[in-house]
Amino acid sequence: MTALDFPYRDRARESRVNRRRALPLAWGLFLALAFGGAMAAEAGNDCQRRADTPKAELLRLVRHDCGSCHGLTLKGGLGKPLLPKNLAGRDARTLARIILDGIPGTPMPAWRGILTERDALWIARKLKEGLGRASP
Ligand code: HEC
Repeated sequence: MTALDFPYRDRARESRVNRRRALPLAWGLFLALAFGGAMAAEAGNDCQRRADTPKAELLRLVRHDCGSCHGLTLKGGLGKPLLPKNLAGRDARTLARIILDGIPGTPMPAWRGILTERDALWIARKLKEGLGRASP
């Protein structure tokens, strides 16, 4: 062992110690971020679940978001037409359930978490009545 080895070995030991201290710290940070993020997301969902979306916002969502698949005038596209004559045979509660849960195995997504049950029922009734000018 020469004198030259000492500073090197000391630094090596030091860095091992540092790493041992840094690891739990990194885990703590990771866990805090993961849990913090999950809790924040949960809180966000909760807010959305509790508050109904304003009706004007729902109409905009139907035209734009639903319209992106069902056609801007809801005459159909990737998704089926959603005009009153197409939905006449289905009751609003059934349609609301489809909107909330989506149709598994098809591109129809579930809107639960974005829309409340009341939002979905309101949209279902609105679709059955017709949205007005743009959907005769
Ligand atoms: C990513 C595309 C997409 C979006 C966005 C979308 N849908 Fe659909 N939707 C579909 C498809 C595809 C079907 C047909 C599924 C099947 O039965 O094959 C469907 C089916 C439906 C049905 C059942 C129609 C019937 O006659 O059986 C309803 C009701 C419906 N969608 C409402 C909505 C509403 C309301 C929205 C907006 C909140 C929406 N959809 C957004 C793709 C979409």
